Amino acid sequence: MPQSSKPLVVRSKVVLGPDDVLPPGPRLPAAVQTVLLWTARRRWLARNQRRFGRTFTLRDVQAGRIVVLTDPADVKDVFTGSPDVYLAGEGNALLAPLVGDHSVLLLDRDEHLRERKLQLPAFHGERVAEAVGLMRQLTEAEVRTWPVGEPFALHERTKALTLDIIIRVVLGVEDAARARALHEALRRAVEFKPSYFLMWAVPGLQHVGRWKRFLGEIAAADELLFGEIRRRRTNAGLAARGDVLSLLLQAHDEAGNRADDRWVRDELMTLLIAGHETTATGLAWAFERLLRSPEALARVREGLEEDRDPYRDAVVKETLRVRPVIQNVARVLAQRTRVAGYELPQHTLLLPSITQLHLDPLSFPEPKAFRPERWLTDGAPPYTWIPFGGGVRRCLGATFASTEMAEVLRTVLREVDLIAPEPADERARMHHITLVPSRGTRVLVRRRLRDGGADERGAVAPAGLTTA
Ligand code: HEM
Repeated sequence: MPQSSKPLVVRSKVVLGPDDVLPPGPRLPAAVQTVLLWTARRRWLARNQRRFGRTFTLRDVQAGRIVVLTDPADVKDVFTGSPDVYLAGEGNALLAPLVGDHSVLLLDRDEHLRERKLQLPAFHGERVAEAVGLMRQLTEAEVRTWPVGEPFALHERTKALTLDIIIRVVLGVEDAARARALHEALRRAVEFKPSYFLMWAVPGLQHVGRWKRFLGEIAAADELLFGEIRRRRTNAGLAARGDVLSLLLQAHDEAGNRADDRWVRDELMTLLIAGHETTATGLAWAFERLLRSPEALARVREGLEEDRDPYRDAVVKETLRVRPVIQNVARVLAQRTRVAGYELPQHTLLLPSITQLHLDPLSFPEPKAFRPERWLTDGAPPYTWIPFGGGVRRCLGATFASTEMAEVLRTVLREVDLIAPEPADERARMHHITLVPSRGTRVLVRRRLRDGGADERGAVAPAGLTTA
């Protein structure tokens, strides 16, 4: 089982020289700042930006000094800077027990670029477009299980759906029983939720029983994953298959070396971790916003019969702007570097703030308003809309996720008439490093719009209510 051999120590801290000057920041004790950073990050960053300007320094008990960037010009410098200087893998080390040491998320420099290059073809636009039909079918099947007339938390359902989509499109598992077994095992491994933050802050915590149970869940998921990898290797039709697992098995480096099972497993787990809950949360927010924006909802409905509708794509972009799933990206300086006008020492952790950039009134007039139409005309100035990060670390699954969000939106709205039972906006709540809707996007299906499929409890929408 690919337990990580890497220590959970994340990175070296900054050592300040006598002449080093960091951007200004609050004087509160590091412990207080840490709590604020992990419980109320959005408000805490906004407050500091108001007080100290676009670049400021925070302190975190584990990460040490953190320089937050909110100016698009500085973010551009970071994203276009040398990957030998701005490291991302080091900062992700705490994911190693889950994704394994070979994961593209954990690597830096040449090693990272090599791994990334192997995977890029699997996520090209044409490849993703081929998966749209499957995304639609899986969404239709999921919607059929939703109860009519009974409120429920949509976020739980989008999590189940995006996991199904990954199992079918990324892993390429067609057998229903095996897909179900994988679904259950992967969900348990991902949702076991050991507190990474605690583990990070308190060395030695990985010896407690809870941590061992977590490793047990991963081992169970791995057994199934390795089984799929072995089965696929011997599949006679491998070369003709379009799923990501089959493409990874055929990938080879410049010397012609093919990937071993461990490498493939780590990359599959990475795609699952990076792509499942993020897309599910993006979808939960899209519905939370749309169901409270009647004009936008009506406009999306107008385009539902179109395979591609620019307005639907704009809804996806606007959702990821006003409610970015991930609040910031992270880079660690490999050497002393000039950033935002400061000479920052080696090991400084930089946080380009996605939330602050997205809510900047200079880039987006009326930044808190949900206005998808802004994407039909103005677009966004460079480095102001970065829900998928940027540069050589930009999200590998950005096209996949945007396409999936648009297709799921379309399919759900074609299938059911959905409302928000409580009209008040759902607050954004922090869940690990993501921002999730506080009530899990509560929705209610008023009626089914198509063939009156049976709901989970066997109830069928009255025929008179179906319109198509
Ligand atoms: C709405 C959904 C998603 C959001 C908001 C999101 C966001 C992000 C962000 C912010 C990063 C870090 C980028 C950086 O450091 O500059 C990232 C990296 C990554 N994402 Fe996504 N992601 C999403 C969906 C997906 C999907 C569906 C997949 C794959 C199936 C995926 C795979 C990855 C991978 C492999 C990386 C690491 C790239 C690297 O280090 O080179 N993501 N994502």
